[in-house]
Formats: sequence, C-alpha cells, structure tokens
Amino acid sequence: MYHFSSVKDVTDLKALLKEAFELKASPFRYETLGRHRTMGLLFFNSSLRTRLSTQKAAANLGMNPIVFNINDEGWKIETEFGVVMNGDKAEHIKEAAGVIGRYCDIIGIRSFAGLKDRAYDYAETVLEWFRKYAGVPIVSMESATVHPMQAFADIITIEQYKKTARPKVVMTWAPHPRALPQAVPNSFAEWAVAAGYEVVITQPEGYELCEDFTKGAVIEYDQRKAFEGADFIYAKNWSSYREYGQVLHQDRSWTVDTEHMNWTNSAKFLHCLPVRRNMIVSDAVIDSPDSLVIEEAANRVVSAQTVLKQILQSL
Ligand code: CP
Repeated sequence: MYHFSSVKDVTDLKALLKEAFELKASPFRYETLGRHRTMGLLFFNSSLRTRLSTQKAAANLGMNPIVFNINDEGWKIETEFGVVMNGDKAEHIKEAAGVIGRYCDIIGIRSFAGLKDRAYDYAETVLEWFRKYAGVPIVSMESATVHPMQAFADIITIEQYKKTARPKVVMTWAPHPRALPQAVPNSFAEWAVAAGYEVVITQPEGYELCEDFTKGAVIEYDQRKAFEGADFIYAKNWSSYREYGQVLHQDRSWTVDTEHMNWTNSAKFLHCLPVRRNMIVSDAVIDSPDSLVIEEAANRVVSAQTVLKQILQSL
C-alpha cells in the first residue's frame, strides 16, 4: 500500500483485518518500524478521534508525529491554479505540499467538503494536489468524499462483535441541524460491501448517496423494513448529494431510539462520533449495552496503525 483513501487501495481486506487484530493484541510489536520516519498530520478542520488516534498509531510504530492545524496555525492555502493571489491566501498548495513532503515521510490530511461545488469536492482537490506535489504517501484522514480510516475501524468493530459470517448491516440516515458531508457514509458503504456483509442503506427520498460508493448495497426507503433482522445499525447524518449540500429536512422520526432498535435482531449500535444525542440517537440507545461507539473509536488506533504499518513496509 502507498496512498490510502479507499478500500480499492487494499489488495486483500481479509488479510488486512487479520493484521489489524494482530496489532490490536500486540500494539508495540513493530515499535521500531517507523524509527527516523516522520508522520505529518495536517488538519484543515476540527478533530478529536482522528487527531489523537492517528498520532498514537504513528507513535506505536516508532514514528515521530507532527500535528499541524494548517488553517489556524499556518498560512491560508490557495488551491486554485492560475489565480492572482491578491486575497487572504498567502501560500499556494503546490509549494505547501512540496515543502511538507520534504519534512514528512507520510502525510495524513483532513480536509472536509465545502458542500458548495459538488464537482470540486468529488474531485478531492486538496488530496489530489498533495498526492501530486508532496512526493510521499498521502492518507485521507477524512477528505471531501471519504473517511477510510473510520470505515476500516467500523469494519474491525463489526468483525469483533459479529455472531454470523455474513451479518445484516444497516446504515441509516438520521437527522442533524447542520449540513454534513457524505464522506463517512460513502466510505462505510464501500467498505461494508467489500467486507461481504448484507448491506442495506435506508434514507428519506432525496438523501441518496453517490452510486459509485453504494454498489452492492440494497437501498430501502422504509426505515422499519430496513431495520428488521438487522445485526448492526450504523447511524449517520449526511446532506443531500443530489441537491448538493442541502439539508432537505430534519425528520425526527428517523432518530434511532429504543423502538427502532426493537425492530432489529438485537442489533449492536454504531456511530463514528461525534454524535448529537437525541437528534441522531436517543440517550437510551447510545447508553445501552448494545452501543459499541466507544470500542469503535478505540479501534481508530488499530485501523490507523495497520494502514501506517503497511505504508511503512512499502517505503
Ligand atoms: N470520527 C471522527 O473522525 O472523529 P473526529 O472528527 O473527532 O476525528
């Protein structure tokens, strides 16, 4: 593995999962693999889990992590080419990527979708320019359209708790007051299908995701029907892809509560966090013994460490 943004960057998901569980059991087994290597963690947006778990994962491999909140602490970055830079953006992405690539052996980037221009977001502009100009492996730590470290941690969690070889995994849209990107659901859909699960996506009309990410999943608009027989419920909000970036409504009947969970096959509850309580999920569900959200977040260290180990071994 060199760059990492998609399940398509993984040659053998089963083998990667096996490696993940080995690292989960022995996190310091490769503590010298990253010696004298630097991991750059660039944040254009806020983070709790990604920032801490990836830093810890890099340290577990002996790497030296540098965390840089680029928008708050660095120069504002221009990502367009051929523009007259006479505004507030003092540094061009071409030089920024080239320079950071000289300081770091692997670069992780968090850069959310702007949710204004679908073509721009779905071109993964920031990630792509870093890939082109940094000269080192680039890892998405949630970019405009994907969040692969999260999806890999979600799959690790499902593997940890599943009781059947091919569980029914339901990803449900849930309401939220603000427009959120499609990165988490896009990645979860493609990773869950690649893992071989029975994947159902349920959402109100108008919230259909980009079909590039949902191939192999069943789309069911009736949330109750979708939940029936589910072994795992993965709740998430996302804004509309079709009416790009729009919040079409905040229908609270889609909030996952105890009644919803009673429709399932005693399903476990997953959410990537942060989560808005009593919008996405009721207190009773997230605080129940069936909620795996803390273990899921803990597995972010495992997913990041497994990916970084693979990349280090390819250098
Ligand atoms: N799930 C997730 O990526 O959390 P953060 O935004 O806090 O990193």
